[in-house]
Amino acid sequence: MKRILSGVQPSGKPHIGNYLGAMRQHIEMQKNYECFLFIADLHALTTVREPQTLRELSIELALDYLALGLDPKKVTYFRQSDLPEHAELCWILGCITPFSVLERGHAWKDAREKQTKDPTVGLFNYPVLMAADILLYKPDLVPVGQDQKQHVEIARDIGQKFNRRFGEVFKIPEPYIRKDVATVMGTDGRKMSKSYGNTIEIFAPEKELKKQIMGIVTDSTPVEDPKDPTSCTVFNIFKYFADKKEEKELEEKYKKGGCGYGDSKIKLYEKILTYFEEPRKKRIELSMNLDYVEEVLKKGAESARAVAADTLKQVKDKVGIPTT
Ligand code: ADP
Ligand code: TRP
Repeated sequence: MKRILSGVQPSGKPHIGNYLGAMRQHIEMQKNYECFLFIADLHALTTVREPQTLRELSIELALDYLALGLDPKKVTYFRQSDLPEHAELCWILGCITPFSVLERGHAWKDAREKQTKDPTVGLFNYPVLMAADILLYKPDLVPVGQDQKQHVEIARDIGQKFNRRFGEVFKIPEPYIRKDVATVMGTDGRKMSKSYGNTIEIFAPEKELKKQIMGIVTDSTPVEDPKDPTSCTVFNIFKYFADKKEEKELEEKYKKGGCGYGDSKIKLYEKILTYFEEPRKKRIELSMNLDYVEEVLKKGAESARAVAADTLKQVKDKVGIPTT
């Protein structure tokens, strides 16, 4: 069985971009792959500054995954910080990673361009920690959204460099990116992202969800005029959740005219509510049993450790660091 590995940062409430671009694939792949999935809380430290918030967001993300159907019997699901191997390998890999590669990292370049005051070393080093996350588990595939492609490529380069210099340890994985959902647009027409405040959250309370959807920016074509569905964010998001027949129906309404954006937003709201109906119920039940969630993470960490510790030992042997 081929192996996959992926992580999501607990840096905010997951949105339908996260779901379509990454989380849905993670859950689907549990059927046919050996899966390692984790809560990237060390990565989230680059942006989350409140300890209590980080703790809460981490548990909430676990709840989200379990509610969406992650089966802990099939998936090794764990919290990154429970395994010190990640940070340890990160240091070793940092010692063979050229500074210039990280200077070209898009998250770092963004921080510079936005003139973020004095960006941190953690942000600069983010791709090396991600390389450690990946290489420790020797996966075949890393399922992510388009925005993470560069990070997976950096991980591949670092892994190859290590293997060449010290001898074969790492498997070099491929990114797995579904083209149709590579970049989901947010309510303002930019890429949907927690950091832009343009998200539609999977588990927002109904009122909030409605507000987010009604806030989608549309053009000012009058209700009675024909509209172009392909350039409309509401339609483009609706497509992801609707079947072909429903998609065709809405497309025709747009083209015929007489259908306002308000109507199509309500349709989208109802569609999303129905689509996530079961997970939304399940999440409420699970949230009353947080001990279970902790137990899943504890067991996940134990299974993950068996793999991570073995890889780290091989690495230490190769570079000349004692392993006992
Ligand atoms: P965000 O940008 O909202 O902080 P993360 O960086 O936590 O999201 O991403 C978690 C996963 O979701 C990653 O695999 C990422 O590629 C994917 N993802 C995030 N935003 C989108 C989007 N708008 N479209 C498709 N995939 C996305
Ligand atoms: N950087 C990823 C994101 O923001 C999260 C992540 C951390 C990750 N480590 C990983 C994804 C390893 C895949 C593999 O979405």
